[in-house]
Amino acid sequence: MIAITGANGNLGKATISFLFDKTAPSNIVAVVRDAAKVQDYAEAGIQVRVADYNDPASLRRAFENVGKVLQISSAGFGETAIREENNVVQAAKDSGVRHIVYTSTLKPGDNAHFFAGRTCNNTERAIKNSGMQYTIFRNSMYFETIPLFIGSAMNDGQIYYPAGIGKVSFVFRPDIAEALANVLVSDNNGNAVYNITGSDAYSFGDIAGLLRSEKGMDAAAYFDVPADAYRAELVKFGMPEGEIGFYMSMAHSIKAHEFSQTDDVLEQLLQRPRLTIREFIRAI
Ligand SMILES: NC(=O)c1ccc[n+]([C@@H]2O[C@H](COP(=O)([O-])OP(=O)(O)OC[C@H]3O[C@@H](n4cnc5c(N)ncnc54)[C@H](OP(=O)(O)O)[C@@H]3O)[C@@H](O)[C@H]2O)c1
Repeated sequence: MIAITGANGNLGKATISFLFDKTAPSNIVAVVRDAAKVQDYAEAGIQVRVADYNDPASLRRAFENVGKVLQISSAGFGETAIREENNVVQAAKDSGVRHIVYTSTLKPGDNAHFFAGRTCNNTERAIKNSGMQYTIFRNSMYFETIPLFIGSAMNDGQIYYPAGIGKVSFVFRPDIAEALANVLVSDNNGNAVYNITGSDAYSFGDIAGLLRSEKGMDAAAYFDVPADAYRAELVKFGMPEGEIGFYMSMAHSIKAHEFSQTDDVLEQLLQRPRLTIREFIRAI
């Protein structure tokens, strides 16, 4: 059986929708915190198991008789995220899971600017030391985050963000999900680490250019605001300090080119071209 954690989240749900066409529903285990959120899964014959990343016993129960686990990275940050992700790896190992597939981030590292890069590095290490077979998807940022980054620029084209000329190899989340589903049903027994990216990397200046060329927003422009001014905006917005640190780390990371790498392996996993950023921008 194949278990998907975070199965009611965006990536988990999309992965299950692709898995549904590739294997019997009874072979899929959806691991969620709240079964009420996924009643449609149970009706479709998918097994729903309740577990929390903070509760190792619940994770071990969720992974009973499971051969492969898709570990969707924690939505938290800092020590909490590290503990939660270690719990999932340990529970998978304790439950006899053979193969773990993990959604990491581009350029993970103990000294990564991006806080999630530090968490993912710790988890990758735990997975590699666990003895389980592993496939690691080092995902770049989703296309779907672009509207969140550029905020009101979706209306007026004015992008304010402190990322300098840093570029991001944005990638379409459903393309990642389909590639994950392909890996989850494959019989490949080797370990692999994939950089999952779009075909090209784009700065926020480039995105302003795309708003002009693809959306006809002639006045679209990018303003590389000072980091302190951006932080002050987040404070004004009422964001908790921990989250502010996380979002600031993301901006620093982009500016330091941690998200600019590109790789074609996603198209090999999909056996078809990826969605392009132009197609995505045109559609939003
Ligand atoms: N590459 C990117 O651009 C990008 C952007 C955003 C996030 N991410 C990372 O990629 C992951 C997947 O993305 P996504 O779009 O699917 O995120 P998402 O829609 O926010 O889904 C996160 C999932 O994790 C589950 N979860 C959170 N805390 C949990 C806990 N303590 N125990 C069990 N489950 C828990 C959530 O369940 P509940 O519904 O119960 O909270 C949800 O199902 C995220 O969790 C985050 O680590 C990447």
